[in-house]
Amino acid sequence: MRLTVIGSGYVGLVAATCFAETGNQVSVVDIDAGRVERLTAGELTIYEPGLGELLRSNLASGRLRFTTEAAVAVPGAEAVFLCVGTPMGVDGAADLSAVEAAARSIGRHLDAWTVVVGKSTVPVGTAARVRGWVQAELDRRGAATGFAVVSNPEFLKEGAAVEDFLRPDRVVLGVDDPRAEQILRDLYAAFVRNGQRIYVMDPRSAEMTKYAANGLLATKISYINEIAAICERVGADVAQVRQGVGADIACRPAADAVGCHELLARQRCASGATIAKAQIGFVVAVALRHELGLEAVAVEQIAHRRPCSRRAGKRDCGQRRQRGRVHAGVGGRSRVEGRNKRNASPRQRRSIAARILYG
Ligand SMILES: NC(=O)c1ccc[n+]([C@@H]2O[C@H](COP(=O)([O-])OP(=O)(O)OC[C@H]3O[C@@H](n4cnc5c(N)ncnc54)[C@H](O)[C@@H]3O)[C@@H](O)[C@H]2O)c1
Repeated sequence: MRLTVIGSGYVGLVAATCFAETGNQVSVVDIDAGRVERLTAGELTIYEPGLGELLRSNLASGRLRFTTEAAVAVPGAEAVFLCVGTPMGVDGAADLSAVEAAARSIGRHLDAWTVVVGKSTVPVGTAARVRGWVQAELDRRGAATGFAVVSNPEFLKEGAAVEDFLRPDRVVLGVDDPRAEQILRDLYAAFVRNGQRIYVMDPRSAEMTKYAANGLLATKISYINEIAAICERVGADVAQVRQGVGADIACRPAADAVGCHELLARQRCASGATIAKAQIGFVVAVALRHELGLEAVAVEQIAHRRPCSRRAGKRDCGQRRQRGRVHAGVGGRSRVEGRNKRNASPRQRRSIAARILYG
């Protein structure tokens, strides 16, 4: 299959290399000329076990190439993957400017029906916006080319990205076009030979699946951090506790086992809290944007833990809570500086959430 990947960062580079490894012809576009030059020379721009060898062998076979020119890479592609960054903007929501720029570059160069596949982590409704940006550029040049937009969130973990991509625990496809679904099923067939599932759903559900998965991971990290603090106090070994808890299959789907537990094993308490904040941040931003109360355990726990985690090992959450420095939920009920505020306005909630999430 002839594929184009836009963005050669972590996700784009791993995806492109693994797609090439399974026999596809892959062109990768990036606006960073230096990165394109290094990758073309077979030099890795990230550290990822096993990726360097795959990069160099697929460059040598001619199945993988890098360019700064969308005009060269987009025409003729059966599927174009959006793998650009979506950093957190000032309001806590994802900054979609790179996604828009990449989508518009597709619209400027599309010459035949294709599937535009969103791999970036984006808020619900972004697939529809991508459709609009591509279509706007097609309209601008009077082109009648058709296309479908699919949401295909990525779940790889840095440090195990090649393995995760070649043998994913799940592939999520948010798709409402049968032709696009078949193309992606054919493409991913090589990756799910060991019985992993392809979950086909509507695009909005696929986008929400990624945010919900991140939120769940954040909740687990926060919870085990709390348990770690208690273990320190009571003389228990959190590593052993973690193993014992993680062995409960009823509480833990098999797919969770590696991700969360390996991640936890690599994190110290304080940095775990930082990751948790970042993971949950997008979920909070979406909830606030939709004027929804979000009183989920994850948010409450992270809100309470933030000041405590900085002092991992000698913390006393109860004591700090009594001082009332930061103790907030964001779902319309909040307590800040010891005052009890119910039914906080959306603006108040946004500022409370910002304090929780960004300090
Ligand atoms: N890194 C991870 O482990 C991971 C895992 C799952 C999902 N994600 C999500 O995948 C997306 C990409 O993440 P990443 O870590 O690969 O990002 P990254 O920042 O490492 O890479 C993004 C790349 O896109 C390029 N780019 C930006 N705008 C462009 C444009 N208009 N045209 C062409 N190239 C452009 C940049 O130069 C950069 O090389 C994000 O939404 C992220 O949240 C990341």
